[in-house]
Amino acid sequence: MVHQLGLTDLHATGQSQQWFARAKQVLAGGISSSARASTTGPLPYPLYIARGEKSRVWDVDGHEFIDYLLSYGSAILGHADSGLVAMVQQQLSRGTMFGTCNTVEVELAEQICSMVPGAELVRYANSGSEAISGAIRAARGFTGRNRILKFEGHYHGWVDVLAISNRPTSADAGPLDHPHSSPHSRGIPGGVSEDVIIAPWNHKPLIEHLLNEHGTELAAIILEPIVANNACIMPEEGMLAWLREQCDKRGIMLIYDEIVTGFRLARGGAAEYFGVTPDLNIFSKAIGGGFPISAFAGRRAIMEQVGSNIIKHGGTYNGNPLCSAAALYTLRKLNEPGTLEHIHSHGRACMEAIRRAAADAGIACVVQGVGSMFQVIFNDNGQPLKHYRDLLNVNTQRYAAFRQSLLMQGVHINSSGSACWFISAAHSAEDLDVTTQAIDQAMKAVR
Ligand SMILES: Cc1ncc(COP(=O)(O)O)c(C=O)c1O
Repeated sequence: MVHQLGLTDLHATGQSQQWFARAKQVLAGGISSSARASTTGPLPYPLYIARGEKSRVWDVDGHEFIDYLLSYGSAILGHADSGLVAMVQQQLSRGTMFGTCNTVEVELAEQICSMVPGAELVRYANSGSEAISGAIRAARGFTGRNRILKFEGHYHGWVDVLAISNRPTSADAGPLDHPHSSPHSRGIPGGVSEDVIIAPWNHKPLIEHLLNEHGTELAAIILEPIVANNACIMPEEGMLAWLREQCDKRGIMLIYDEIVTGFRLARGGAAEYFGVTPDLNIFSKAIGGGFPISAFAGRRAIMEQVGSNIIKHGGTYNGNPLCSAAALYTLRKLNEPGTLEHIHSHGRACMEAIRRAAADAGIACVVQGVGSMFQVIFNDNGQPLKHYRDLLNVNTQRYAAFRQSLLMQGVHINSSGSACWFISAAHSAEDLDVTTQAIDQAMKAVR
């Protein structure tokens, strides 16, 4: 029997309200990450989630939701997966970390190298931003060049090194052929943005122009293979192969930020999915199944300079056995035949349900991405978005109404339309039925 999911009344969330009032007394802004300020949605306070199991989460007032936020894609096996919990408990009972080399970090690196094309040597860190910093230093150290080309609207973490033009306003973005390097925050020194050249995504002629201008100064081109942080904008056909050629021709390192796409798009991430191998690859989120671990990996010649300490990289918690054990379990599961296929097929069915519901309701929108991660964008022409600036003109009220209706019906997605839906291995056929019905209703709420 299907029991009641979601919220009968949006305001029946008094416990969350009280926790937020308490949090504001002691946490800056009441939150622990700037991104969470935008996950509040229709209420002036966030929902506090108390527990999760498989595809479901429960808030502190006891409401149950099917979770498509999934900790921004990290909980790829679902919440509290029993095998993952057992693996971590076993490691916990042996000790959490020793600050020495350990066997689990070795087994995990072997697993990564066996799954990811081009991953010849690995280094661990703890968050995506840290691994990005390591990879950028490696590219700079290896090439002896300083500047990095990044794409407008691609997100590579909160730390100074690349927090430039993540989501600039139209006024800050500058002309499309020479986008401004616009710091994402106060406190980022001017020298950082000078070293970051911004290009429009999916625009070969303009990218080529910038490469002709700056190519010899560039250590790396970095990109999100699918722009997870701006509504799952896909690379145009041939884009990654063309960038690979440009990098080879000009002695530039190609870096994939696979913090979202890694082990999610395919067993070997975007390198396998799109058939184009970068020089360096960065992983976090799905790799740890919900535990804080990240890694950068890539060509032996580059990573050997990290290995021999010519390029320095460190970290107390790097490769700790607890998170490594969680990651090892997660990757082994994702490597099993059927796991990723299930994730993609559930997601494709959700994508189709949204398209069908929109067509029935006569609402213009585009659903873009792939099965395991996608987003719906309410634009006027129903055409896929090509680059970040296309997002500046979309109808955010429609997304908010759609999301609120889903939440009321027990389907939990990111309140930001710039983010994605994420699917886990634990989403079930019953979840799909409930989600499909909720989508039909939610599309009727969009006017
Ligand atoms: C593509 C991408 N790169 C980098 C990061 C930064 O990772 P973290 O938040 O773990 O520092 C994120 C986080 O959302 C991300 O989505």
